[in-house]
Amino acid sequence: MSMTTASAAVGSVCFPRSRIRGSSFHPRMSIRSSGSSTDTLSSVTQILTKLHKDCATPVPVLRHVADSMANDMRAGLAVDGSSDLKMILSYVDALPTGNEKGLFYALDLGGTNFRVLRVQLGGTDQRVIATEAEQVSIPQELMFGTSEELFDFIASGLAKFAEKENGEFQLSQGRNRELGFTFSFPVKQTSIDSGVLIKWTKGFAVSGTAGRDVVACLNEAMKRQGLEMQVSALVNDTVGTLAGAKYWDNDVMIAVILGTGTNACYVERTDAIPKLPGQISKSGTTIINTEWGAFSTGLPLTEFDRGMDAASINPGEQIFEKTISGMYLGEIVRRVVLEMAETGSLFGSSIPEKLQTPFSLRTPHICAMQQDTTTNLDAVGSILFNEAGIESNMGARKMVLEVCDTIAKRGGRLAGAGIVGILQKMEDDMEGLIFGKRTVVAMDGGLYENYPQYRTYLQDAVTDLLGPALSENIVIEHSKDGSGIGAALLAAANSKYKP
Ligand code: BGC
Repeated sequence: MSMTTASAAVGSVCFPRSRIRGSSFHPRMSIRSSGSSTDTLSSVTQILTKLHKDCATPVPVLRHVADSMANDMRAGLAVDGSSDLKMILSYVDALPTGNEKGLFYALDLGGTNFRVLRVQLGGTDQRVIATEAEQVSIPQELMFGTSEELFDFIASGLAKFAEKENGEFQLSQGRNRELGFTFSFPVKQTSIDSGVLIKWTKGFAVSGTAGRDVVACLNEAMKRQGLEMQVSALVNDTVGTLAGAKYWDNDVMIAVILGTGTNACYVERTDAIPKLPGQISKSGTTIINTEWGAFSTGLPLTEFDRGMDAASINPGEQIFEKTISGMYLGEIVRRVVLEMAETGSLFGSSIPEKLQTPFSLRTPHICAMQQDTTTNLDAVGSILFNEAGIESNMGARKMVLEVCDTIAKRGGRLAGAGIVGILQKMEDDMEGLIFGKRTVVAMDGGLYENYPQYRTYLQDAVTDLLGPALSENIVIEHSKDGSGIGAALLAAANSKYKP
C-alpha cells in the first residue's frame, strides 16, 4: 500500500496552496451547504464509528503484529532485502564498561535540531565527571538543500561548541578529539565508524547524501571548517540510547525511540544472524538496528493514513512510523477532523483554511488537548481556534478529543505490540533470556516522554499480550537523552587510542 508524509514544516512545501479550497468571498474559508442538524450528527458519528472500527487493536490484532514483527526480524537477519526490516548490523560489540576515561564529544543529528555534547569520563570510580551540551535548530531550507550545505552547517556548529571547551574538560596529551556521531536515519554500516545513508526519513530530502558514507560527509565538512576531530563511532539514536542506558543498568536489552520518527534496536547473539559476514564480535553478541519504522504487516490502517501516505514525500515507505510516531499523529487527526467538517459540518457551514492546511495540527497539539481537564474544554477550544481556525462548541470539542484518543491509542498499542515482538523473538531463540529475569527496555523520544495517554496505552498493550506474570519482569523505562551520552561512550569504547 501507499502511505506517508512530511513534517509540519514540510507541509507547506509539499502541498501547494492551489490544492487548498477557498471561497472567493472569504478567502480564508470554504463554505459548504449545511444539512439538517440530525444529518450532521449522524454523518459525524458514522465517521467516528468507522474510525474506531478501522483503528481497533484488540489482542488478536496486536498478537498478529507482534508475531509478524518477530518473523520479519528473522527474515531480515537471514538475507538483506528479504524483509521490511533491514536489521542493520551496528558493529557495536564493544559496549562501554565503565572503565572509559577522557574527553569525548557527541553529535546527534536526527530531526529538526542537532545536539552537540562533550563528556569527561573518569573511569570506574568517577564515571561521568562533567557534561555540557548545546542544541542548534536546523533551518528548514537545509532539510531540502544539498548535502554539503547541511554538513557545513553542522560542522560549523560543532566547531563553535568545541571552541568553548574549558578547564573542566581535559583532552589527554597527544590525542585528537574523538566524536560519537549519532545519525538517526537508515544507514548501512560498513564498520563502527563508517556507513552509507540508505534514504532520508522524517521529512528530510537533502540531495547528494543517499548512497554516500555519512562519516566522510562530516569529515569533509569538518576539514572545510578547520576542525580537527575524528569520528570513532557512527551510531543510530536507538543504539546510542541502548549503550547509554546499559552503562548504568546491565539488564537493558532493547532501546526504542518514539519521537518525530521511531525505531528499535536490541542485543542479538551473533550466531542468530545468518547474514553476518564472518565473525565480527568477540563477545558473541552485537546490537542490531531493526529500522522498524519500515514495518508494515498486519497494521490496522484507515483511509486517512492512506491519504497522508499518498501525499507524502516517501509514499509506501515507513508505514509503521507513519502510524505510531510523533511526526504523523497530529496530521492523521487533522485529516479525520477535516472529513468530519466537510461531510458532517462538525463546525457549521464554513471550513477554515487552516484546517485544510496539512500539518497545521501537530502531535503536541493533540497531546495538549488530551490533557485538558476544564469543564468547558477551554484548552481544546483555544487550540482548535489558534491552530486550525475552528470555532467549536462543546459537542465538537468532545468529538475532536475522541478522534485524538483513537489515534493515540492505536499508536501506543501498536508500539507496545512491536516491543513484544522483539522480546518474543529473543525469548524464542533462547528460553529464559528475557522472561526468566528482569529485562529493561530503554525508551526515549518526545512522544514517549510527553504524551501520558500514549505511554499508558503502550504499557497496557504489553501487559495485554504478555499477561501479568511475564510482564512483571519487563521494565519499560524512560532513558532521557541517553543517546548523546551513549554515542560519546561508544566513541570512548571504540577509541583510536589504546587506554
Ligand atoms: C529513522 C531511524 C531513527 C528513528 C528515530 C527513523 O525515521 O529511520 O534511523 O532511529 O527515525 O529517530
